[in-house]
Amino acid sequence: MKPALVLLCVVVLSLSACAQVERAETTSDRDEDATGARLYAQHCSACHGNYGRGGVGVPLALEDFLGSVNNQYISRTIRLGRPGRVMPPFPRLTDQEVQEITEYVRSFHWADEPIFSSEPVEGDPELGAKLFIAFCARCHGANGEGGAGTGVSFSRPTFIPILAPALNNAGYLASATDQVIKRSLTLGRERTPMRSLSAMGLREQNINDLVSYIRSFETLSADRVVMKRPANAVLVRQSPYSYEQTIENIKQAVANNGLSVVREELLGEGIVDPGEGERKQHVIYFGSLQMISDGLAHDPRMGLFLPGKITIVEHAGKIKVLASNPEQYTTLFNNIALSDFATMLHEIYQTILAEATS
Ligand code: HEC
Ligand code: HEC
Repeated sequence: MKPALVLLCVVVLSLSACAQVERAETTSDRDEDATGARLYAQHCSACHGNYGRGGVGVPLALEDFLGSVNNQYISRTIRLGRPGRVMPPFPRLTDQEVQEITEYVRSFHWADEPIFSSEPVEGDPELGAKLFIAFCARCHGANGEGGAGTGVSFSRPTFIPILAPALNNAGYLASATDQVIKRSLTLGRERTPMRSLSAMGLREQNINDLVSYIRSFETLSADRVVMKRPANAVLVRQSPYSYEQTIENIKQAVANNGLSVVREELLGEGIVDPGEGERKQHVIYFGSLQMISDGLAHDPRMGLFLPGKITIVEHAGKIKVLASNPEQYTTLFNNIALSDFATMLHEIYQTILAEATS
C-alpha cells in the first residue's frame, strides 16, 4: 500500500503547495511590520494583485469595499474561502497570520474599519426574491451563484468590468453579517459594475428585503455545501486470485463496465526492499473519452486523476488491488460541483474492484 500512498501524497502536497506555501516558511524569521505584507505577497497577491488592485480575485483596495466590511469578514473569508469558486480557504495559517494579513488588507485604504451592530436585518425574503430577479440576477445569477468566471478578466481593462461574486456561497454567508451585506448594498462599489441601491432606485425597505433574501440562501446552500472528507483516502481490497489472474480480472471488469484500458505500467517489479521481500506492482489506467471530458468540464484539475488508475500489488504472498478514493476530490479541490461526478467515479471504482476480487 505504501507506494500508492506516497504517490497520492506527492499529488496532494504539490496541489496544496500551489495554493498555499508551506507554513514553516511563513513562521520563520519574522519582521514584525512586514509580516502581513509578506504573507499577502505569498498567498494573495497572485490573484488579488499588489496592493489589492485586483486580478483573478476582486480588488480589495477599493474604498467602498473596505468601507463595507469589518475585519472579521476579511479574516473569515481567508479561513473559509468561497467553496466552489476560485477563492481558496486557508486552513493552515495561524490565527495570528490571518490577523496580520487582514490588517495589511485594511491598510490598503486610510479609512477606519467600520463598526457594525449585530442586529439582524428584518425584511421580507419573498419580496427580496422578486427584487433580486429584477435588479441583480443579470450579474449575480438567478440563484445568486455569481457570474461565470471571477475577478477582473485579463482581456479587459483593469478594474472594469469586474465579474459579480457568488452570494449564495457558504463562505460568503458565513463571513458577512446582515449589517455587512446591508452596507455593501447601500454603498455599492464605486469603480466596479456594482452600483449603490439608491442609484438603482431602491429604498431602505427594499434593501432590507434583499438582505433577508440573500440570507435565505444559507438554508438553500447549507446541505449542498457541507463537504465531508471520506474516511479512507485509498480504496483497498485483497484478491483471492494469483497476481496474473487479478490483473486479468481488473481488465475484464474495466471492459464489463463499458470502459477501456488506456495504458499499463509495471512499477518496481523485482525490486527488493531490505527485509520486505519481493514486491510486484502493476498499474492499469482506464476510462473513456466521455469520462475524461466530463471530469475536466467539472474541474480542469481532475486531469491529475484521469484516466482512472488501479494498482495491483503482490507483497509478502498477498495480492491487493488499490485506488485513490474519488470521494476525496470534492474536498481536495474545494469544489462542490465535483461531488456528483466524484460519487459516480467512486461507484465505478468499487464495482471494478469488487468484480475483480470476488
Ligand atoms: C486563486 C485566486 C485567489 C487567491 C490565492 C486568493 N483569493 Fe481572495 N478571492 C478570489 C476570488 C476569485 C474572489 C471572488 C469570489 C467570487 O467570485 O465569488 C475572492 C474574494 C475575496 C474576498 C472577498 C471580497 C469581496 O468583495 O467581498 C476577500 C476579502 C479575499 N478574497 C481575500 C483574500 C486574501 C486575503 C487572500 C490571501 C490570504 C486571498 N483572497 C487569496 C481569488 C483568490
Ligand atoms: C452590473 C452588474 C451588477 C448588478 C446589476 C448588481 N451587482 Fe452586486 N456586485 C457586482 C460586482 C462586480 C461586485 C463585486 C464588486 C467588487 O469588486 O467588490 C458586486 C458585489 C456585490 C456584493 C458584495 C459581495 C461580496 O462578495 O463582497 C453584494 C452583497 C451584491 N453585489 C449584491 C447585489 C444585489 C442585491 C444586487 C441587486 C440589487 C446587485 N448586487 C446588483 C455586480 C453587480
